[in-house]
Amino acid sequence: MSAQQSATPTVKVNPNAPTEETVLSVEHYTDRLFKFRLSRPPSFRFRSGEFVMIGLHKPDGKPLLRAYSIASPAWDEELEFFSIKVPDGPLTSRLQQIQPGDKVLLGKKPTGTLVMDALTPAKRLYMFSTGTGIAPFASVMRDPDTYQKFDEVILTHTCREVSELAYGEELAAALPDDPLCDEYAHQFRLYNSVTRESYARQGRITDLMTTGKLFMDLGVPPLNPETDRVMICGSMEMLNDTKAICEAAGMVEGSNASPGDFVVEKAFAG
Ligand code: A2P
Repeated sequence: MSAQQSATPTVKVNPNAPTEETVLSVEHYTDRLFKFRLSRPPSFRFRSGEFVMIGLHKPDGKPLLRAYSIASPAWDEELEFFSIKVPDGPLTSRLQQIQPGDKVLLGKKPTGTLVMDALTPAKRLYMFSTGTGIAPFASVMRDPDTYQKFDEVILTHTCREVSELAYGEELAAALPDDPLCDEYAHQFRLYNSVTRESYARQGRITDLMTTGKLFMDLGVPPLNPETDRVMICGSMEMLNDTKAICEAAGMVEGSNASPGDFVVEKAFAG
């Protein structure tokens, strides 16, 4: 080895290491929920509905990353995230304090099953969500591909309290002015409910389905694998209970490798 070679240190560059993105905006909805937008590297590609690792450097310099659904659609120049705030959460206790201009780590490998590719074609798409489980559907409902594949798109959002419905209501209200989905806004409907406060519509989505109230309110027939497809995102218990209802209706779970009638992904809390 020559003197010159030995003087040059070898720097190992990890091609999968997260990039540092800039916080562009932050909006707090309640003391438990907030949304933020990040810069998007030109090379960052994803399908609407996927999740990615995001996070912050710990005080010791090591990255602390959690899986987060991307709430913005694939065509958006920025990346949006909708997050819970866990007071003692290792990541969200710090993430909730970010300000525009701060840096957030963004993983390089988005993935997930709440994507158009994992569902076979049909007439109607249901997106069943609770709490921050609405995030991937904030992406899917703002993607024109969704409306080209399905005539009707129904997003349900159930939260403990009325104030937690604000993000979903804001998304629904903005759809008629969306740059790419405005012409499809008439195909979309938001159906929300609350479980721990009085509200016009109360109850868990699972109960609203089994009693038939959901379908009566919407003026549509009960779940049917011939016409309906389903995406589910919420807590583990909510996923299991909603999945059981889909299976009882004769629906078959799909995946990227084998598209089907319904797909499931848990809401990730950092
Ligand atoms: P509930 O208030 O009856 O528990 P969480 O914040 O705990 O994830 O809950 C968000 C929403 O999901 C709440 O309205 C909650 O209702 C509802 N939920 C919790 N567990 C289930 C379940 N197994 N099936 C359907 N909805 C659920």
